[in-house]
Amino acid sequence: MQGRSLDELQKRYNKAAADKKQNFGPPGRPARNRQGAPEGKPKNTGKTVKRLWSYISKYKFRLILVVLLMLTSTSTALAGSYIMRPLINRLVYDDAPAQEKIAYLAHMLIIIGGIYLAGIVTGYLQNRLMLRVSTSASERIRNDLFNSLQALPIRFFDSETTGGIMSRFTNDIDNIDLMMNQTITQLVSAAITLIGTFCLMVYTSWQLTIVIVAFVPLLLAAVSFVAKRSSKYYTEQQSALGAVNGYIEESVTGQKVVKVFNHESACVDEFELLNNDMRRKQMGAQFFGGLMGPVMHNITQICYAVTAGVGGLLCLLAGFDIGGVSIFASYARQFSMPISTVSQQTSTIFAALAGAERVFAVMDAKPEKINDLVNTEPSISGCVELRDVTFGYLPGKTVLRNISLTAEPGRKIAFVGSTGAGKTTITNLINRFYEIDSGTITFDGTDIREIDRDYLRKNIAMVLQDTHLFTGTVMENIRYGRLDATDDEVVQAAKTASAHSFIMRLADGYNTVIEGDGANLSQGQRQLLNIARAAISKAPILVLDEATSSVDTRTERHIEHGMDRLMKNRTTFVIAHRLSTVRNSDAIMVLERGEIIERGTHDELLALKGRYYELYTGVRELD
Ligand SMILES: Nc1ncnc2c1ncn2[C@@H]1O[C@H](COP(=O)(O)OP(=O)(O)O)[C@@H](O)[C@H]1O
Ligand SMILES: [Mg+2]
Repeated sequence: MQGRSLDELQKRYNKAAADKKQNFGPPGRPARNRQGAPEGKPKNTGKTVKRLWSYISKYKFRLILVVLLMLTSTSTALAGSYIMRPLINRLVYDDAPAQEKIAYLAHMLIIIGGIYLAGIVTGYLQNRLMLRVSTSASERIRNDLFNSLQALPIRFFDSETTGGIMSRFTNDIDNIDLMMNQTITQLVSAAITLIGTFCLMVYTSWQLTIVIVAFVPLLLAAVSFVAKRSSKYYTEQQSALGAVNGYIEESVTGQKVVKVFNHESACVDEFELLNNDMRRKQMGAQFFGGLMGPVMHNITQICYAVTAGVGGLLCLLAGFDIGGVSIFASYARQFSMPISTVSQQTSTIFAALAGAERVFAVMDAKPEKINDLVNTEPSISGCVELRDVTFGYLPGKTVLRNISLTAEPGRKIAFVGSTGAGKTTITNLINRFYEIDSGTITFDGTDIREIDRDYLRKNIAMVLQDTHLFTGTVMENIRYGRLDATDDEVVQAAKTASAHSFIMRLADGYNTVIEGDGANLSQGQRQLLNIARAAISKAPILVLDEATSSVDTRTERHIEHGMDRLMKNRTTFVIAHRLSTVRNSDAIMVLERGEIIERGTHDELLALKGRYYELYTGVRELD
């Protein structure tokens, strides 16, 4: 890991960033984004825009109001500038006495003030309304995205990183929000201003209009020159930022490992490489980004000077009015503004559309299969049968082969076998986290594919190999197993799991708030809470996957008593490393490379002197 070059780092961590951005689909279908369109560019713009529109079109009334307000505020701006023409002309050409002129000037100033005030008020209202529309729309997008996430199968989460999912909720939706809120209004008002100004210009003087319009190609050329370069650097900067973020994320989550192996200084060196690279790209992006303003400004100034010069000539030679020249000079300045606005908004639009595509891709990912034949039998007694079950997580890579077994109600079945043999995978299939490739799994004779998914899982109490606790009190965390459980039942479940005594020693007992997935608890304590959560459930089927692997043998012996009570009258599948815990099972399955190679009771298997005997005596020797 030490001394990797910038190139290598970029590739590693950019790939991570790129993978996070990728589109995914059901397994087997190649990710759409791998080849084809370059990263970060929207691919199906029309469809995406239509879909985004469906989110804001709900607020049609507000949008119409926004457009009306925008029309008012831009026309007041135009009127405010046009009114200068009669004002100046009267002051210059009229022979009225000075006093009258001053009164007229004051009168006009009040009118101009009124016009601009109206512009400010309408502008304010328009912003408020649009903000309301865009934030409501992004709230709905976030809701839809979160809802789809809840419906997605475990397989989806296998292929996505947490960071990738998070960035959809943050970056991508922020970009969409920015576009809906600012870009749309800016573009519309730029268009109105452009059209309005143009009409007024033609009305005032077609000759001067030609002069200004002649500058448009120059403006466009300059804008596209700068925009092209700045967007190139901008993309590079984003990807460098991705690498930096990826690196930080990894070293923060792996901080303990970094410290244990003394990798701090190597980490710092690598980070400096990436950081320096980001600085260079940032400089390019910001340099060209910042160039836009001055370039536009200078072209505008030239245009201004030429307009004033030609206007002056027209006054002298063709009887054009000074008021007309003066408003034209201000139009020359105004005219370039919408053009640069549009060009500056294009990168926001691209970012938002690309983000929207990533968000919609998650929404469109195939949800967990919903059954056609929904079967919610009054009760499942707990007879579980697997017939010739074959399964692989990835196509072509079989993990389980021809697994057949029957668990009669109330029986205890144990799975033993080395790491990676496929023990956890069997439990993943029983509760339908994944769909099997062939064979059948039945509950009380009914294929699990014909049982309602929620109902099926309601009938299985599970202690997963990876513990997870939510932010909330100990009480709430245990009650997660059955929401209608009383406080007494929670305490009872904690006692069953031998968690009661340590909970009582916590600062606030059952009301202690658990944070950050239980960072304030030991791994063993986390496991005990997970057991208590399963213990509170009344499900007829119980699955314990290495439920006590981090609990010391003394506590484990303590639990045993409670566990026996827990397993009573329930069909139990237990996976354990310590063979002492599986000894009293009704049947023990020895799993090796996805196949059951031995099965029987403890005594039968010992007598067999096979793999189980080896495992068992091996453990004994270690003791
Ligand atoms: N989500 C997954 N995606 C792909 N392969 C997986 C996944 N989970 C487990 N595997 C593979 O399946 C095999 C069995 O894993 P598992 O059932 O977790 O073993 P264990 O017996 O230790 O519980 C392992 O070889 C592992 O690499
Ligand atoms: Mg496992």
